[in-house]
Amino acid sequence: MTDNIELTHQQARAFRPDKLSPPRDFLVPNIIGENKDNVPLILEVGAGKGKHALSFAAQNADKHLIAIERTRNKFEAFAKLATMQNASNLDAIHADAIAWIVHAIAPNSVAKIFILYPNPEQHNPNQQWLNMPFFEFLLSRLQVGGEVTLVTNIEAYMDNAEQQATDTWSLPNERYQVIDDSQRTHFEVKYLARGETCWELCMQKPEGYKTRFDDWQVDAVNQKIA
Ligand SMILES: C[S@@+](CC[C@H](N)C(=O)[O-])C[C@H]1O[C@@H](n2cnc3c(N)ncnc32)[C@H](O)[C@@H]1O
Repeated sequence: MTDNIELTHQQARAFRPDKLSPPRDFLVPNIIGENKDNVPLILEVGAGKGKHALSFAAQNADKHLIAIERTRNKFEAFAKLATMQNASNLDAIHADAIAWIVHAIAPNSVAKIFILYPNPEQHNPNQQWLNMPFFEFLLSRLQVGGEVTLVTNIEAYMDNAEQQATDTWSLPNERYQVIDDSQRTHFEVKYLARGETCWELCMQKPEGYKTRFDDWQVDAVNQKIA
């Protein structure tokens, strides 16, 4: 099993984390260096205006969520609400998630990753998350038994993600239809109100999983703590 896992995705073009500079004004949240109580660390990639992040943090006091959004106006709306909510278990980060994760997150340290309604990238499928070499790096940050949850309203995106999860990434996975009254994100509310079907893919990192980045970490001396 381990041999197959190594063979499938290790034949893919490798991501180059060494080529990425830290995001502008890069700061590492306290939780990264000081997680003495081993609080489960959760990541959300492309958090939008933060609807899911804010309610997840409120409902999961025993977990710490780092929610990353690249688009300035969405991030500003999110940051404003996060400041009002003042949750100690939530960090709202304005950055490109790829560069930020490369510079901030240690291997084998994340319990769960949410990617909720990513940009469809229908004309640029190599930018879909499971088609990117970065996905291998993302998996290296996940703990064994950790999960990636991907949700989309685009059936073709989900079909491809499901196939890639199995064939390229060798991840046990399950696909569900999102229930009609789910309201986790602004995009989810919009799509379900229009009567569209939304799909969810839950992938798990199995025991013995290997990536080419399991020992790769930015030199901690260069990191600034928030
Ligand atoms: C379609 S929106 C969905 C937002 C939110 N998850 C929701 O469901 O309401 C996708 C979001 O992902 C963000 N995004 C895309 N690529 C990103 C990246 N590399 N780093 C951070 N955010 C990213 C975009 O800025 C956009 O806000």
